[in-house]
Amino acid sequence: MATHSKRIGILTSGGDCAGLNAVIRAVVLHAQTLKWEVVGIKHGTHGLLTSPPQVIPLTCENVDTVVMRQGGTILGTTNKGDPFAYPMPDGSIKDRSEEIIAAFRSLGCDALIGIGGDGSLAILSRLAKQGGFPLIGIPKTIDNDLAITETSVGFSTAVDVATEALDRLQPTAASHDRIMILEVMGRDAGHIALSAGIAGGADVILIPEIPYKIENIVAHIKSLQKRGRNFALVVVSEAILTPEGVTIQQKYFGGEKRLGGIGHFIGDQIADACQAETRVTVLGHLQRGGQPNWRDRMLASAFGVHAVTLIEQGKFDRMVAWTNRRIVDVPIADAIEHTCVVDPQGPLVKTARGLGICLGDGS
Ligand code: F6P
Repeated sequence: MATHSKRIGILTSGGDCAGLNAVIRAVVLHAQTLKWEVVGIKHGTHGLLTSPPQVIPLTCENVDTVVMRQGGTILGTTNKGDPFAYPMPDGSIKDRSEEIIAAFRSLGCDALIGIGGDGSLAILSRLAKQGGFPLIGIPKTIDNDLAITETSVGFSTAVDVATEALDRLQPTAASHDRIMILEVMGRDAGHIALSAGIAGGADVILIPEIPYKIENIVAHIKSLQKRGRNFALVVVSEAILTPEGVTIQQKYFGGEKRLGGIGHFIGDQIADACQAETRVTVLGHLQRGGQPNWRDRMLASAFGVHAVTLIEQGKFDRMVAWTNRRIVDVPIADAIEHTCVVDPQGPLVKTARGLGICLGDGS
């Protein structure tokens, strides 16, 4: 189909993950086949809050070959500063949405491609509606908690990292007769913990979707010890609750609270009850950085090409998605309507139970 030349904007928003650069590359390469221009907006919507806006022209020359293999995002990103309730230096909160819309308009773009998770896509969608500009969303998040799409860019690589961590922890655990606790990210969704736990041969997997009791974990580890097993691997998702029903968070500079520390809590409980040595590894941002694996590069490439195709077809307010082995597109509103957490009756939970993995609930 012949189309008029277009100029499209692209930004990455929210926490970074592996595969973002592969998405950017795919968008640029496909746009180039249509002789369209691509403008990269730096630091998510923050790049539109400065005068002049922070943008870079993206061409095959500056995104091809090397970029796809790199972690992070060449555009920069942020998971702070909601434009509708922006924290100002004087401590006040300001709606800066009109500034962002005006700056985007000044770029002369025909459409925006936003690569983000549920929070970012919700904000971008609201901005697009208010500003009347066409938007296409591309899902990325290591948490894999967006609805409809079976997987988002970055998830698979994060699972690889967590699986490799278990591969590395197992021999040292066995050498020292220790119980190793691995705390992984994922916020309220246990997808990373469950997938990596299964793939990495964990004995216990604790996820926010399944309430646990310490007694059940201890009983399972003791039964392993009785069978002669001298070590155990426990995967803990960062947002599981303590017995008091709260998440463990750390307070940082400026009063900001972040999830983290539940692994140490669980480790202490197990050490005490099992009279065994425990060690805790908090995997943290290692799950986000580094080279994307082939699946994330493939997904990123397919998503990027489809996003440009949607613009070519004049279909907007859509998020590209991967379902039933196909690239499809759905209304952004449907994808962000609710978060997709682990189904406690779903196939992977059944798999874990079938393998005899303890999920902490005593079944
Ligand atoms: O949403 C992605 C994520 O990596 C979560 O899994 C994690 O809780 C959070 O972001 C960490 O955010 P930050 O980069 O601000 O520490």
